[in-house]
Order: sequence, then C-alpha cells, then structure tokens
Amino acid sequence: MATADLDAAQPCFHSVEGAATAVAHPNIALIKYWGKRDERLVLPRTDSLSMTLDVFPTTTTVRLAPAAEADEVFFNGAPGVGEARKRILSFLDVVRETAGQRERAVVDTRNTVPTGAGLASSASGFAALAVAAAAAFGLDLDVTELSRLARRGSGSASRSIFGGFAIWHAGRGLGPAADLASFAEPVSVGDLDPALVVALLNTGPKAVSSRRAMQRTVDTSPLYRPWADSSTADLAAMREALVKGDLDSVGEIAERNALGMHATMLAARPAVRYLSPATLTVLDTVTQLRRDGVSAYSTMDAGPNVKVLCHRRDASQVADAVRSAASCQVVISGCGPGASLQSGALQR
Ligand code: DP6
Repeated sequence: MATADLDAAQPCFHSVEGAATAVAHPNIALIKYWGKRDERLVLPRTDSLSMTLDVFPTTTTVRLAPAAEADEVFFNGAPGVGEARKRILSFLDVVRETAGQRERAVVDTRNTVPTGAGLASSASGFAALAVAAAAAFGLDLDVTELSRLARRGSGSASRSIFGGFAIWHAGRGLGPAADLASFAEPVSVGDLDPALVVALLNTGPKAVSSRRAMQRTVDTSPLYRPWADSSTADLAAMREALVKGDLDSVGEIAERNALGMHATMLAARPAVRYLSPATLTVLDTVTQLRRDGVSAYSTMDAGPNVKVLCHRRDASQVADAVRSAASCQVVISGCGPGASLQSGALQR
C-alpha cells in the first residue's frame, strides 16, 4: 500500500429513499479492543488499530416497512433468532432515535464469513448495517458519524467503515461528549504491502461471546489493567512502525498485543480460553517460519483461528506452511476497502 493511501480508504456513500444495500469487510485488530467503559454506548477502555480485509464481505439490505408493526431480520435468508437478532433490533432503535423516525424495517444480511467464530463477522455486519440503515432512514451522515453509529452495534464495526488501516479512538470520560469523541479514522502507512493469512481452524460459534468475555475480563482479571496500560505504548509504537513501513515491527507489536489480550482472559475468573491445540500448532509454525527468515506474525481474536501477518510476496509460502501443519483451510487477504453502498443507488 502506498504512503497515506487515504483516498482509497475513504468510502463513498450514496442514498436512496426507503431502502439501501451496503457492503462491508471484516477488520483484524493489530492493537486489540478488549474492554468497555460504557456497555450501552460501546465506549472502549483503550484505542485500537486494525487492517480491513478484502475477503469475507457482508452484504446487508435495509428496507423500511411502513405498514409493519415489528422489525424483521434475516440472516443468509433465514429468519434471525436469539441474541444476534436482538442486537440488530436494538441497533435499529438507535438509528430510529437518531433519525427521529418510528418506522419498522426489514433487514436482510448475508455473511460470507462464519458468524460468531472470532472472524470479525460483527465488524463487517454492523458496518454494513450502519451504512444501509442510515441511508434507508434518510440520515445524511459523514464517515465519522457512520463510524460512531456502527460502534453502537459492535465496537470493532467502527473500524470497518474504513479500508486499509484504521484507528478507533477510545475518547475520554462518559456521556454524550465521550460518545462524540469515540470513532475510527484512517491511519497513514508507509510503503507496505501486507497480507493476512487466515487459518480457519474452527468456524463453529464460540462458547462465550466476545461481549461477555471482555466484560468478565475487565471485571475479574488481575492482568487486565497492565495489558490496557501496555496497549497504549503498543499503539504508539505501532503507528510509528506503520509510517516507516516496517512490517517486522508491526508484526512483533501485533503479536505481543494479541498474546497479552489472551493472557488477560486466561487470568479472568472463570477463565476464558479461546485458543485451541490447533491454534498453538499454527503459533509454532509461524515461529518456525521466522527462524527460517520469513517475516510472519500471529494474531488471534475471540476464537481459535489465527491470522498471520506477512508480506504479500510471502503469503503463499506462509499459507502452505500453515495449511500443512494444521490441516486446515487457509484464506489469504490483502488490505480491503471501506464500507460502501452498492451501485444502483442515487448519488448524493
Ligand atoms: C477480540 O467488537 O465483537 O476482535 O463491541 O461487544 O460487539 P462488541 O465486541 P467486538 O469485539 C472484538 C474484540 C476483538 C478485538 C478487536 O477486534 O479489536
């Protein structure tokens, strides 16, 4: 990616009355978001920084239903149920409140990434929903406002509004001023052509949601505060490494930040453990790749799957090594685009 490729990272939005379809991609945090200071407003305790993927997009259509008495939600064509449906309904309430409207809506969301497996489906899901719902309800929001809106659905979604690399500012304090100050924006990077090799070790839903796990970690883990403090230093070092286009430093910082995050969960009471034996196999493989002179670094989210950061030119070699060590499916991703409304809509 070329220096400060911000134009490509800035999404472009269109609006159409009453219905809209948006596409967004997942992002993988290199400096993790783990812990909220306000559950309702989804205000994080720390800043985070991510790379948006060019694989696993979510496509979401929101259609206003003036005659309907309740919202309807469909996931991949099937009626939505449970917690995932509830979160979408609450999010629509936030959009209605912002728009000063009462109309119900039909949401049709299609994920190409397995949902709830720590593959950032909530990031692409709520970024696409925020963009589509804002357009359908006639809200004329800029990207900062869209990022703040997406945040209310799922914190990490605030970053998927943007392509390339994005930083999500935690903001300070509580209440409306803090709400305004917590949004994502693109980050400048130097000469870097990175790939993330995604090892699909287990794509089933996780036993403990990231939402519950991070809350438990904040409430009970003695390691949480030290990690959050070190994350501030990690972020500063990460920004410097990105500007320099220094993939080895970017990778080293990302790997230690992710392992630290998992350490906080392992120390929670009761412990939350997402990492599986297959995760450790991939971690060992990545360490061996480094010994063999390949720049490769691991990061894991709220699930066992490992994403390996490397130069794009090394991605096939890394993918082959991971696939044969863990006997798993592997997907290679480069830097992806920001969220956008699909064509066919009227240009704003
Ligand atoms: C480990 O954004 O899914 O992927 O805000 O509660 O919806 P909620 O959490 P979510 O958490 C993502 C956590 C993470 C790290 C990250 O993406 O920064």
